[in-house]
Amino acid sequence: MKNLLPGIFVVSVSISMAAASAVAGERPQKAAIASASPLATEAGMEILEAGGNAFDAAVAVSATLGVTEPYGSGIGGGGFWLLHRAHDGFKVMVDGREVAPAAATRDMYLDEDGEPVPRLSVDGPLAAGIPGAPAGWVHLATKYGRLPLSVSLAPAIRLARDGFPATHHMVRNLAYKKELMNRWPAAAEVFYRDGEPPREGELIVQPDLARTLTLLAEQGIDGFYRGDVARKLVEGTRAAGGIWTLDDLASYRVKEREPVVGHYRGTRIVSAPPPSSGGVLIVNALNILAGFELPAMKETTQKHLVIEAMRRAYRDRAEFLGDPDFVDVPMDRLLHPFYAAGQRAGIRMDKATPSDTLPGVVRQVMAGGTQTTHFSVLDREGNRVGGTMSINFWFGSGFMPPGTGVLLNNEMDDFSVKPGVPNGYELVGGDANEIAPGKRMLSSMTPTFLESEDGLAILGTPGGSRIISMVLLGSLARIHDGASATEMVALPRYHHQYLPDAVFFEEQALDGEVRGALESMGHVLRASGRNYGNLQAITWDYETGRIDAAADPRAEGLGLER
Ligand code: DON
Repeated sequence: MKNLLPGIFVVSVSISMAAASAVAGERPQKAAIASASPLATEAGMEILEAGGNAFDAAVAVSATLGVTEPYGSGIGGGGFWLLHRAHDGFKVMVDGREVAPAAATRDMYLDEDGEPVPRLSVDGPLAAGIPGAPAGWVHLATKYGRLPLSVSLAPAIRLARDGFPATHHMVRNLAYKKELMNRWPAAAEVFYRDGEPPREGELIVQPDLARTLTLLAEQGIDGFYRGDVARKLVEGTRAAGGIWTLDDLASYRVKEREPVVGHYRGTRIVSAPPPSSGGVLIVNALNILAGFELPAMKETTQKHLVIEAMRRAYRDRAEFLGDPDFVDVPMDRLLHPFYAAGQRAGIRMDKATPSDTLPGVVRQVMAGGTQTTHFSVLDREGNRVGGTMSINFWFGSGFMPPGTGVLLNNEMDDFSVKPGVPNGYELVGGDANEIAPGKRMLSSMTPTFLESEDGLAILGTPGGSRIISMVLLGSLARIHDGASATEMVALPRYHHQYLPDAVFFEEQALDGEVRGALESMGHVLRASGRNYGNLQAITWDYETGRIDAAADPRAEGLGLER
């Protein structure tokens, strides 16, 4: 593979060679886990070694990520878990996305003049949706797992109770969100020392979180959504200006969704359906690209066409996508090859299409970082999980109801607060993603499987709406060039999302010649300044038996095969 990020240490380069080759459906010779936190990857391995399957490991990894990366995801947030069960091939996405509380209204973040109140949908308890992550973990464990929650949650409980050393990222993120996090004492007490972040290596101890996790382990869903924890969550949020009720918590339900499926050059893509926009956009972009002989084309043409496919796929996001329980998402149309053929017909080989010449222009801009988190698991039976989980921005709303250890998300900002008004990622939407009680806010989180006769990949990443273009680029590298997990996570990235009408790129993604060529075709290029994303991937190649678990070299994660 050319084009890998130079000079960056790839965290997991160990690649296991199994003695015999495999075919689709056979068992892998090793289990593999990649996640954004070495402690979470180890927690998952511990659970596999204790007799758990990939679904039990997913509970352990998810809950541990919430403890060790409290800035990215956790018990106060939500997530999507894409599952494949080996013995019968059953696939499903467990949707533990947050929902708007019952007292939420379409205009709740607007002032009397109908203008958004700055930061109201981002900071503090009013920004928080009703968490879905704990219900998701219980669902994974009880419906698909083999071990009791007391076992699969044990590593997370231990790390919350006994503490773990603050990493470089942790200290940096705490410094970045110091002002917000020190507004409310419960969070400040856990994460700061006299208002200042700890030093790298100092222990972060979360006793209230350990207690809450223990109640979840002992009582299942009721340990969080009813009883003492629920009461503290509701009292705490309401005392600080929130609108949650006990009924909001008691009525939260996980949803099982049929994954989005598409095909491109002999590979089946299985990905996240609404309320994620990810799977639909990935499959649509690949359907557009399927009309070209991409691998045979020169680099500039390939990149031009990928950018044009992204532009068209992202255009539809704002118009059509939202919670499918509330809006009618035209899935058949958006996923149909004929629809893609129509989109493809407007692409010129020699020129960028100005976004404002595409129909139905809605402003849509975003920036992406490494908040949120993804992990991939493959067990020795061949069960798999791709999980992407979030509390939205760094440390979510920054608000922790006293006595709970639960840092609340600010996922409400993923709704369109007002049609046409950009959210925190400068994403806009229309009616499909307007706020309504009990509704799930539209997401870009895209856990994905790539399946072919030659092998398998499990991948995903944080990064706001750039998640989708990262998963697309990783998928293309896998499908065109047979990229391993190590190669996929290190691949330099570029991104176009319709509006703003610009290509965002990591320095290494476009060389001087390609930049010049793209610019002469009319593309506006914007260097992203710093690298972005935190992709976690597993690949299994049947012919060699090679299994590779790799963490993005841009961050602190770890891939292991064992
Ligand atoms: O669900 C979503 O699309 C967002 N809440 C994800 C946020 C995210 O990836 C932040 N990372 N930069």
